Amino acid sequence: MTAQDITTPRIVVLVSGSGSNLQALINATRERDFPGEIVAVGCNRPDAYALERAKQAGIETFTVDHTLFDSREGFDVALKAEIERHSPDVLVLAGFMRILTADFVRAFHGIMLNIHPSLLPKYTGLNTHQRALDAGDETHGVSIHFVTEDLDGGPVIAQAEVNIASDDTAETLAGKVLTKEHILYPIVLRWFCEGRLQLLGDQACFDGHPIPRPMVLSAD
Ligand code: GAR
Repeated sequence: MTAQDITTPRIVVLVSGSGSNLQALINATRERDFPGEIVAVGCNRPDAYALERAKQAGIETFTVDHTLFDSREGFDVALKAEIERHSPDVLVLAGFMRILTADFVRAFHGIMLNIHPSLLPKYTGLNTHQRALDAGDETHGVSIHFVTEDLDGGPVIAQAEVNIASDDTAETLAGKVLTKEHILYPIVLRWFCEGRLQLLGDQACFDGHPIPRPMVLSAD
């Protein structure tokens, strides 16, 4: 293999908010041996702090403001065009809080990852921390999954658990889960960039073998 054969996977990250997961990914990809490069960060909110983080890291940004579109389809077409300018090998949703159309999801089939703050299949959608508390759960956590047309329902690759303490609130639990998110997402993104993860049909595979159940980082 010559040097020209080796291409660094191009990562595009989509964000909507504070971007603490983006920061964890920026930090990880700056490590000398990381097998991928964040080439752009896209956002649907012009005032999101995540954009500031990307700029401080010298990463190109783009904003597609969803409030300027009459329809979800119109927004997704514009977003897709912006993303495609950067020819991503992997599209990483890191706190991107928009529901995506089926056309958009199909366009990035097999290369789109999402992080969701619950132990899927529990608690798809919003308010996951409060729902785990209300249910009296003893453990909670975060999942990273391939994105399919099924909202928060794509094959789960990996999860990290946290123990719920009797005095936890939705805020303290969110903090505990975020700490795990920042550990888990760089690990999974590294696997993807190393070519170890694939989505074959509706099955997540690791090193060519179906993942029968998510890989789990247990609670401390
Ligand atoms: C994270 O907790 C992430 O898991 C969640 O949004 C937060 C973003 O935080 N994502 C979802 O709820 C997606 N459905 P961040 O902007 O600080 O990374």
